[in-house]
Amino acid sequence: MKIRLVLLAGARPNFMKVAPLMAALDPDERFESILVHTGQHYDDSMSGTFFRELHIPSPRHHLNVGSGSHAQQTAEIMRRLEPVLIAEKPAGVIVVGDVNSTLAGALVAAKLEIPVIHAEAGLRSFDRSMPEEINRLATDAISDLLLVTEESGRANLLHEGKDPARIAVVGNLMVDSLRRNLPAALESDVRQRLGILNGRFGLVTLHRPANVDDGRQLAGIISALRVISEELPLYWAVHPRTRSHLEENGISLGGAIHLLAPLGYLDFLHLQMKCSVVLTDSGGIQEESTVLGIPCLTIRDNTERPVTVECGTNRVAGTNKESILRAWRENLESPKRGTTPPLWDGHAGERCHDAIARFFSSQMRIEEYSEA
Ligand code: UD1
Repeated sequence: MKIRLVLLAGARPNFMKVAPLMAALDPDERFESILVHTGQHYDDSMSGTFFRELHIPSPRHHLNVGSGSHAQQTAEIMRRLEPVLIAEKPAGVIVVGDVNSTLAGALVAAKLEIPVIHAEAGLRSFDRSMPEEINRLATDAISDLLLVTEESGRANLLHEGKDPARIAVVGNLMVDSLRRNLPAALESDVRQRLGILNGRFGLVTLHRPANVDDGRQLAGIISALRVISEELPLYWAVHPRTRSHLEENGISLGGAIHLLAPLGYLDFLHLQMKCSVVLTDSGGIQEESTVLGIPCLTIRDNTERPVTVECGTNRVAGTNKESILRAWRENLESPKRGTTPPLWDGHAGERCHDAIARFFSSQMRIEEYSEA
């Protein structure tokens, strides 16, 4: 009998983590991995294109939950996942990142007494107004194996009293996907399509509720972007939630701010490699820009990924016009070059595989599974 693992993915940033995990688990005949897509993200531009570009196999189960309030979405994922786990009887459930699908999956598995493995455990912004922070805290509290991207994650988990034997610092799965796909991303003709083949430009993404759901807050950030765009044209790949808030609040952009639809993985990576600076509130993009050596201004008051500031190219720029412009000027005067954090080397998938194999062999002799 193989060790059956359910991997749960739901939202855009999950897909680049699940791809290298599956690639590392699949060649090992002791494991059988079953992919479940919650459907938290459902547009082709937020989901389907990532499956194709990252060569992720079609999910065995699609829960089609769609959008909703946090409670509705989390509850709906739980309601639809429970019968799947009861039928598939996995030996473990792997959840990744910090989205609502992550927490919902961990809760359902833990209540069915199925071990929970959390990849990207231990990150903390210490800001409970962020829905992701609640998801991270609650998921880690009930996870059995905690796979960590950076040392700060281990320190946070130890501080919370987690058993060190359940923690493994494995590196960053997102960076595995990035390194694997750099050659294909270089080939993208996205700059040609946008007519920015030779010019310098900045790349923008914004989607955190705290930044985009309140019209005044969003307008303040945009007024900073407008000033920056007078010196450097900005290309902004707009998340659906942000687009609807821009429209609802009738916010005009002005300046040289160019709105783009959400981009596929390879096109976005290409722009990230070729831009002069990234302005973002995304977690994953802070990590990617650090690995690419591209300066990143994080439009937030904190980061749960401190290694990107300590080692990498990231600056926490705050969320008001003055602080963003201050960070912009600091970046012009002394752009950070940064170094790559330890273990962000493209081999996190293998280390996750090894930690998972060790986890099951300590639970019971792994041979029992392979021989039965
Ligand atoms: C979610 C994650 C966030 C992650 C982000 C990446 C949580 C709490 N948040 O935020 O951590 O950084 O994904 O994108 O899980 N929508 C569409 N099409 C889609 C998906 C969403 O139009 O395919 C629109 C809907 O109007 C929806 C809104 O975007 O209501 C927000 O989607 P939701 O999944 O609730 O959260 P995100 O903002 O995407």
